[in-house]
Amino acid sequence: MNQLKSYLETHKDRFLDELMDLLRIPSVSADSAYADDVLRTAAFVQQKLIDAGADNVCLCPTAGYPIVYGEKIIDTSLPTVLVYGHYDVQPPDPLELWTSPPFEPVIKDGKVYARGACDDKGQMYMHVKAFEMMMANNCLPCNVKFMIEGEEEVGSDNLPPFLQNNAEKLACDVVLVSDTSMIANDVPSITTGLRGLSYVEVEVTGPNRDLHSGTYGGAVANPINVLSKMIASLHNENNHITIPNFYDDVLELSADERREMAKRPFNQETYNTYLSINAEHGEAGYSTTERTSIRPTLDVNGMWGGYIGEGAKTVLPSKAYAKISMRLVPNQSSEKITALFQQHFERIAPKSVKVQVTPHHGGEPVVTPTNHIGYKAAVKAMEATFGKKPIPTREGGSIPIVALFEKILEAKTVLLGFGLNSDAIHSPNEHYGLFNYYKGIETIPHFYKHFTALSAANA
Ligand code: BES
Ligand code: MN
Ligand code: MN
Repeated sequence: MNQLKSYLETHKDRFLDELMDLLRIPSVSADSAYADDVLRTAAFVQQKLIDAGADNVCLCPTAGYPIVYGEKIIDTSLPTVLVYGHYDVQPPDPLELWTSPPFEPVIKDGKVYARGACDDKGQMYMHVKAFEMMMANNCLPCNVKFMIEGEEEVGSDNLPPFLQNNAEKLACDVVLVSDTSMIANDVPSITTGLRGLSYVEVEVTGPNRDLHSGTYGGAVANPINVLSKMIASLHNENNHITIPNFYDDVLELSADERREMAKRPFNQETYNTYLSINAEHGEAGYSTTERTSIRPTLDVNGMWGGYIGEGAKTVLPSKAYAKISMRLVPNQSSEKITALFQQHFERIAPKSVKVQVTPHHGGEPVVTPTNHIGYKAAVKAMEATFGKKPIPTREGGSIPIVALFEKILEAKTVLLGFGLNSDAIHSPNEHYGLFNYYKGIETIPHFYKHFTALSAANA
């Protein structure tokens, strides 16, 4: 491992330059205007895997953006690690809030600023560089397969069929993902659970066209007023969600588990100051840590309708829209929750309007086992490079494909993330600490080593 440390030291500037090159390609999967760039990014990752020494590297076509696959099979009797990550990024807007352009990465205060710096280009590329190090130093201890997709930020629609059709090719003993965060640079943690997601769009229609709000206002339902009221009714005074049966399948944590969670370092005041909020908010009876990890939520992501241009236009709009997401926890099912939402929303609509609910993507919540050798190997790896035992943490974000690794590939996942919640992923000025980038590259080979050893001991 000393050999690897000195290799990292020797090549660290190039490792960073390559990440900066990757960050310069605007791989925004949500916006078709960037389609060529998304494809260029896939080709970039493909080339870097080849350069690092992977075999059978290819761009696997899908109905959407290609999946970059590569492997190094050194001995079929040894265990296999499947690395998953994504090369697509979120749209960069609002552009005016960036202090430097999102696709012109710059280093400030020891962090690289760019869209995708942390989510997930920076974290995904750590794996490519860790692999390069192990190959160059002849110390790759087991087999590795890479599966890097380009549609994570738009719901990974084409990945489940890819898993299904290539289950044999992707067979592995553990899936390793760096696309989550840790508590702090001096408080390492390993993610042991992610929330699921139900995402719907609603359309409320009042009159058949926009009307003069003086002539008709008062006598005809205003769909924006109605939608606002409907949305407001989805939470009660305790901030519980009011959709009937919404909580039926929620797995409650035991008092012991909650006590364990409460040990996670957290300061509400620092949190409020960081977000410029005067007070916390959320479901009665739960802490901020619990509200953002083990409890389900319902949030409006966007709402529009009527006149939103300059000045004032008196109009009673015909339509109102909202995009609503629900974060789910074990054992809720996204299909079931989406159906419950739809029924409830249609039921609470007054006769004066019509409503239409359109489901978008969903995903199931996951918990990853801490008694699996993958988790144990990750603990040992972080202990070696941070000098501290990592803490297990449940996180609030979603990576829907993780549930399918278990279902289709029958493999457990290790969520070994090196980002921080303050890295502004999906926000303006996203960044990733150079400490985190290099620490990740340093830690990953330890994971391979320990996972291989634990597999042998368990055989
Ligand atoms: N990397 C994130 C998920 C994440 C963020 C996990 C922070 C843990 C902590 C991922 O790229 C993401 O943004 N997922 C989406 C869901 C997807 C279906 C668009 C999310 O969580 O909103
Ligand atoms: Mn991500
Ligand atoms: Mn993301």
